[in-house]
Amino acid sequence: MKKVSYPLTKNPFLKDDLKEGIKVIKSKQLTLSKKTIEIENYFGKKFGIKYSTMLNSGSSANLLAFQTLINPYRKKRLKPNDEVLVPTLSWPTSFWPIVQSNLKPVFVDCDKKNLNVDINDLKKKITKRTKCLILIHVLGHCADMDEIMKIVKKNKLILIEDTCESIGSKYKKKYLGTFGDFSSFSFYTSHQISSGEGGMITCKNNEDYQIIRTLRSHGWVREITNKNTVFKYKRNNYLDEKFTFCNSGFNLRPTEVSSAIALSQLKKLDKIKKNRSYNYKKIKQTLEKDKLCSKYFYFVEKNKFVSECWLSFPIILKKKINKKTLLNRLYKNGVETRPIISGDFSQQPALMKYNIKKQKRYKNADYIHKYGFYIGLYAEKISNKDLRNLKNSFIKSLINGFK
Ligand SMILES: Cc1ncc(COP(=O)(O)O)c(C=O)c1O
Repeated sequence: MKKVSYPLTKNPFLKDDLKEGIKVIKSKQLTLSKKTIEIENYFGKKFGIKYSTMLNSGSSANLLAFQTLINPYRKKRLKPNDEVLVPTLSWPTSFWPIVQSNLKPVFVDCDKKNLNVDINDLKKKITKRTKCLILIHVLGHCADMDEIMKIVKKNKLILIEDTCESIGSKYKKKYLGTFGDFSSFSFYTSHQISSGEGGMITCKNNEDYQIIRTLRSHGWVREITNKNTVFKYKRNNYLDEKFTFCNSGFNLRPTEVSSAIALSQLKKLDKIKKNRSYNYKKIKQTLEKDKLCSKYFYFVEKNKFVSECWLSFPIILKKKINKKTLLNRLYKNGVETRPIISGDFSQQPALMKYNIKKQKRYKNADYIHKYGFYIGLYAEKISNKDLRNLKNSFIKSLINGFK
């Protein structure tokens, strides 16, 4: 196998993160308990969000956001076929929970310069049936949130922020994931904060919070923290109070090990953000200074109001050259690459199987799909030697040109 000198992901765990996990294993309390409650409280304080619920993944967080929106206990719930706006440059589990919740997805193109949703296309897609927007903050960057919030308020949309790729980033000093009614976060291995697998859902009102808690855990009544709010159901002697199920449900709980490791990582988020920003700047400067790289590549156009906690380093080709040839050469020269999110998700075969009408190509997402890719970015500062090697790999891959 080819030795990859610049992989997409490096081991994100420090010794003390693993120690926290091992402590939990030694305690033998592996299922949801104190550590999960601790990270939920810490998360809420750190980001200034009232209700945080730890889950087994970011995908589960998106699923629960939509399942809460259609839940019969919610006073104002969405109805079948209500329309949900979703970026075309998307991830499967940002998209499928819409369909799985009997709602109708409506794709919105991306902005070619900053990769986030194209605000003009977003405005065009709003109809009387549009009830919700799931916004994906791409790789640590975001759209103009002032504009987005204006559109959300004007059209009375429910906003879900998929912050799975952007924990720690801020827009005008406000954390991404704190603008919407619901937000999802991922602690998957390659993400800024990791516990291998894990995620968090946040919401702003107690009704949604109680629904989320029951849905996370089998629909169990014992998950409710405030019995006087949403859940009106008849109690009777036939039922065991501890085994009463008042809602439908899943099992999307995290393990205590995930919660302990994620908490240990979360406490280092500010340092991780600094290092990732440093790495992003260094790589950008290095590639921009190089004549060959700057002839072929452009990079995300920075919004001056955003302070990013980058997940990775996206690169877009200025010219329509054969991307596959370039990526094969990069791999041979030790650099691993991958599509930006999943590229243009609207073209994936799974959509046809679920009778989602064949989508036309979305101009900008199509361009990013064909000519965009990303390389890794790590939590530790990049060394000058690694930076030089990375630049040389790019030069070697570009120097012979493209037919
Ligand atoms: C935008 C986006 N949403 C959701 C997810 C799902 O997160 P998880 O892998 O924790 O399920 C990902 C995963 O990478 C993602 O990039």
